[in-house]
Amino acid sequence: MFATVNKSFVLYFFQRKDDSMNEAQALKHTFEHTRTYFPSLGNSYKGRPVLFFDNSAGAQVSQFVIDRVTDYYIHRNAQKGTIFTRTAEMQQTIVDARQLAADLVGATDHTEIAFGQNATNFFHLYAHHLGRDLQAGDHIIITEADHHANVNPWMELAERDIHVHLWNVDAQGSLDFDHYEQLLALKPKLVAVGWASNATGTIHDMPRITAMAHRAGALVVADGVQAASHIAMDVKAADVDFAAFSTYKIFGPHMGFGYVNRDRLERLEGWRIQHELERDSYFFEVGSQNHEGIEGFIGSMEYLAQVTKDAEGNGLSLDKTPLANSRPSRHEIAGAMHFAHEYEQQLTDHFLAKLADVEGVVLYGKSAEQADERLPVFSFNIEGIETDTLGHALNDASIEARTGNYLAINLMKRLAEPFGGSALRISLVHYNTVEEIDLFFGIFAQVLTDLKMKVD
Ligand SMILES: Cc1ncc(COP(=O)(O)O)c(C=O)c1O
Repeated sequence: MFATVNKSFVLYFFQRKDDSMNEAQALKHTFEHTRTYFPSLGNSYKGRPVLFFDNSAGAQVSQFVIDRVTDYYIHRNAQKGTIFTRTAEMQQTIVDARQLAADLVGATDHTEIAFGQNATNFFHLYAHHLGRDLQAGDHIIITEADHHANVNPWMELAERDIHVHLWNVDAQGSLDFDHYEQLLALKPKLVAVGWASNATGTIHDMPRITAMAHRAGALVVADGVQAASHIAMDVKAADVDFAAFSTYKIFGPHMGFGYVNRDRLERLEGWRIQHELERDSYFFEVGSQNHEGIEGFIGSMEYLAQVTKDAEGNGLSLDKTPLANSRPSRHEIAGAMHFAHEYEQQLTDHFLAKLADVEGVVLYGKSAEQADERLPVFSFNIEGIETDTLGHALNDASIEARTGNYLAINLMKRLAEPFGGSALRISLVHYNTVEEIDLFFGIFAQVLTDLKMKVD
């Protein structure tokens, strides 16, 4: 009996191991293929392939986007607000695009979405409209981890004697929940917080943050910008009230969109934005929009749908995921992001293993042991070398990576203080590869040797 159980356990174990090997290979196969959809990824400079590692600032676009923008100019280039067919088709395109954005982030439908200039603009709009009903003496919370886009608009409210509290991070740059509890005891009206850090790649626990805020009676405004290019977002599961996203980081054109939870607004008697929304569901889309960009955004969602198709064609499945029973269009679009996040874990593990061998490296954010709590966004410094010196040397070697504070100003001031609040950031997305990482570390080793020789 013992021998039989043992044998079947061994068989089960090896089968499981085999399945996950297959899954890892299917993910690799799927995402290496995504590169073929991006004409700009094959560029070279001075005979070397360009390594594009600035994805957290803005991603490349696929042929789907390029085709959509071209198609817009040929077939639907018109102004809104009248009755001829081309106008009607263009207006319908905008509604369709809003619906795709709703599918991507898990909103109820297109009525909860508005397009706009960018995410920063949405935070300013939210601060302006929500701020109108705040009184002198009210409290709101912003975080030390956030990009300044979700900091500055709220700081402006301090000019009206609204108390703006900075929720601290710990030494690793993670939000400190003990401090959060203390701040929530003040019964703040609002919490403005990022879903993931664009500097450290740390994923914040949005459902927990939101549940705690709501218990204290506060609304939550989420900065979904960084998370949306890496994970399947679900604004309903996270229960955020307002959010903003940048389409150009989700493989689309330079624009943004906002999410507004209508149910929450209905419960908020007295928030003036509710009445505005009742009059015009696209209150935030005042004036003319970037039609060609919105059409290009549709292309970026077509790209994601293609990735899901490719993944499923390679045997991957969403059956055991939260997307298993989602509506077809959400399944297609957010599905790609689910698979992307799974695949990016391979990139993260590989990158962190290689980085650990670099002498004098100071990494910010989650370590290899907590890799599942982070995105493949790596900010680090090398002892004894100025950050910008690294950036220039990498540029000379055809590596496009960012140095500075990436406008996560408070966070980088805290974490990288000995380096003047600045670090080198290598930010990857699903179209980057293990081979690119290896190529990078080969070049980086040479760059460091050369720089250290100069210093000595
Ligand atoms: C986390 C985060 N929030 C907000 C922004 C600003 O986005 P936008 O350029 O769409 O205003 C950025 C841009 O890098 C970001 O990384």
